[in-house]
Amino acid sequence: MKRVLLIIGGGIAAYKCLDLIRRLGERGIAVRCVMTQAAQAFITPLAVGAISNEPVATDLFDLDAEREIGHIRMAREADLVVVAPATADLLARMAQGHANDLATAVLLATRAPVLAAPAMNPAMWSHPATQRNVRQLKTDGVSFIGPNAGEMAEKGEAGVGRMAEVAELVARIESLLDGAGRGDGGFGFLNVAAVRSARASLAGRHVLVTSGPTHEPIDPVRYIANRSSGKQGHAIAAAARRLGARVTLVSGPVQLPDPEGVEVRHVQTAREMLEAAEAALPADLAVFAAAVADWRVAAPGGGKIKKAAGAPPPSLELVENPDILRTIAKRGPRRPALVIGFAAETQNVVEYAKAKRKAKGVDWMVANDVSEKSGVFGAERTRVHLITAEGVEDWPDMGKAEVADALLRRAAAYLAERRESV
Ligand SMILES: Cc1cc2nc3c(=O)[nH]c(=O)nc-3n(C[C@H](O)[C@H](O)[C@H](O)COP(=O)(O)O)c2cc1C
Repeated sequence: MKRVLLIIGGGIAAYKCLDLIRRLGERGIAVRCVMTQAAQAFITPLAVGAISNEPVATDLFDLDAEREIGHIRMAREADLVVVAPATADLLARMAQGHANDLATAVLLATRAPVLAAPAMNPAMWSHPATQRNVRQLKTDGVSFIGPNAGEMAEKGEAGVGRMAEVAELVARIESLLDGAGRGDGGFGFLNVAAVRSARASLAGRHVLVTSGPTHEPIDPVRYIANRSSGKQGHAIAAAARRLGARVTLVSGPVQLPDPEGVEVRHVQTAREMLEAAEAALPADLAVFAAAVADWRVAAPGGGKIKKAAGAPPPSLELVENPDILRTIAKRGPRRPALVIGFAAETQNVVEYAKAKRKAKGVDWMVANDVSEKSGVFGAERTRVHLITAEGVEDWPDMGKAEVADALLRRAAAYLAERRESV
């Protein structure tokens, strides 16, 4: 039986939790509740206990309750922690890592995924302080549902701040608990147990990611580039961060914001990318998702190359760029424990990627078809093949963020296994 720990905050929407507990119970999900002191001003522990059929915890320093179950055990036993309503104050305490009441102590002690359902007055929600706390919590890996737009409990007030409806909450909680039916192609990256073990494996590890194209100058105003958008690499960096890793992202020129909580090194050329990647070592995991130019102009012009009437167009001599993947994947004390490369091909995608995996000495290769008909460059979705020493897996069509989550989960499991076998 799946276990949800529901932390009820002190907002008007607390009454909706009674219905939420009942709906989850109907679906065979056990709900244990923690109520903040403020929550008890809105609904009683008696009502919550009667509906959940479980004792309700309210006090960090309750001797009997601590003896019976204890806040650490409560945090550990949950498959998912849901904070509803997540008040402005509770979000602030969570963002700061407070542990001075039972709700925050449990939130700090849990390794389970956390889902927050904020509910508050629209002015409180849009306040820069609340938005700052939400950004921080998202960086820390907390998922959010709502708030929705609509009428507030206060007469005449409307805007964004209503807690998500119970049906929405139930649907999100169910999908987080079993990873099914929410378009994850059966990959289960929404699966709570899998997320929890990935987080345990990656927490505190260093992950190096490269992303985007490189620009190789022809002269000070022109360059050779490619169509990589950086979406996949940036999604991988963000996913690794969400799983608790320390992440260094070496990014070529892209039109994307830096992922939050990630250390980003901005570079232009392949040679700069190699230098930044080497400087970031050692790393436990390295994912090379950047589309690095194979060649650069041998002697870029110091000034803009001028077009002269009647003169033939200049010819560009190209020289090979350093091979970042091969360089970092070389055996040696600084080689990351797991090196993953990306192969973008327009034909014979899997065959080329298999050959590239062997030639470059990388552990895994993610191959995708970037032919014009595939529309992968710059798109939100992609279809990839994962090539390992064991064989080829054809992954279904997925969003790039979903590919990032699934890949990181696999990498986390691989690293955990290696750690155990050391
Ligand atoms: C009538 C009333 C309604 C309130 N509703 C909300 C609310 O919907 N959202 C919110 O963030 N705070 C609300 N508050 C303020 C919180 O109760 C207050 O910040 C409290 O300290 C939150 O404690 P907790 O986060 O530990 O539950 C309300 C206060 C009162 C008196």
